[in-house]
Amino acid sequence: MVSSDSVSAHYGKDGDLVDAIAGRLTEAGLEISTLSTSDLASVDEFHIRGRQATLELAERMRLDPASRVLDIGSGLGGPARTLAEAYGCHVTGVDLTPAFCEAAEAMSQWVGLTDRVTFRQGDATSLPFAAESFDAAMTIHVAMNIPAKERMYAEAHRVLKPGAVFAVYDVLQGEGGDVLYPVPWARDPSISHLATPEGMRSLLSGAGFELLDVRDTTDESQRWFEAKLANLSQSGPPPISFQIFLGEDYPEMARNQVRNLGDRRIRTVGYICEAR
Ligand SMILES: C[S@@+](CC[C@H](N)C(=O)[O-])C[C@H]1O[C@@H](n2cnc3c(N)ncnc32)[C@H](O)[C@@H]1O
Repeated sequence: MVSSDSVSAHYGKDGDLVDAIAGRLTEAGLEISTLSTSDLASVDEFHIRGRQATLELAERMRLDPASRVLDIGSGLGGPARTLAEAYGCHVTGVDLTPAFCEAAEAMSQWVGLTDRVTFRQGDATSLPFAAESFDAAMTIHVAMNIPAKERMYAEAHRVLKPGAVFAVYDVLQGEGGDVLYPVPWARDPSISHLATPEGMRSLLSGAGFELLDVRDTTDESQRWFEAKLANLSQSGPPPISFQIFLGEDYPEMARNQVRNLGDRRIRTVGYICEAR
């Protein structure tokens, strides 16, 4: 199996993800016809510190209702919907995993945002868009599955207009030792490709981006995962959580993330860049 198939199999192996999410929401007493984006945030903002982290990134992206934004590795579409709702902009999401693209479309219909978000299946290392198509782009917790990072960032640069903001928020290799698996992006090292903080700076500048701001949020990430783990230990997995697609080993992944963050085996870092 080639690596990109292994990645989409890791995330999207269960069929009928849309039905599974709809079923959990209904069991939790929510009506699909009256859902708001915040009802979905615990499953569709699939990264550390969830919606809050997306909004913090978005504040630096110079967005307005006329902005055409690209979300690279858009997952279930939560970050794209958050930006579209908060800023009135149009967001295009591209993701490798077909089941996630399908769920992203369905969930956007549920909350009435289909006029402002669109999703298509595609690979970050070969984006299906013309040069200079977007006013801004973001990528959240995606590059850790991608070995060809030079190619990924070169593609982001190609599709952005000169002067556009590129916001990156990723999990990086820390100084505290090897990652303990399973983690939410990989059950073993075969699909995990973490850059180091130093490596990220040269990757982004090598691709033609000027770094305007770098923010290490590892301490906040550790507290966020400790709180998630405490909830999991006390009450078990909530009905609407990443467990719907990550499966039964999600609690073990959460335990490992607390150790990975605490030992600084991983770090979370956000970058605000401008396309030169
Ligand atoms: C941890 S999820 C994050 C999803 C989303 N960015 C979010 O924060 O909610 C990682 C996502 O990266 C996608 N991905 C991994 N490799 C990719 C690639 N080469 N091209 C596009 N998407 C990719 C996966 O399919 C998955 O949806």
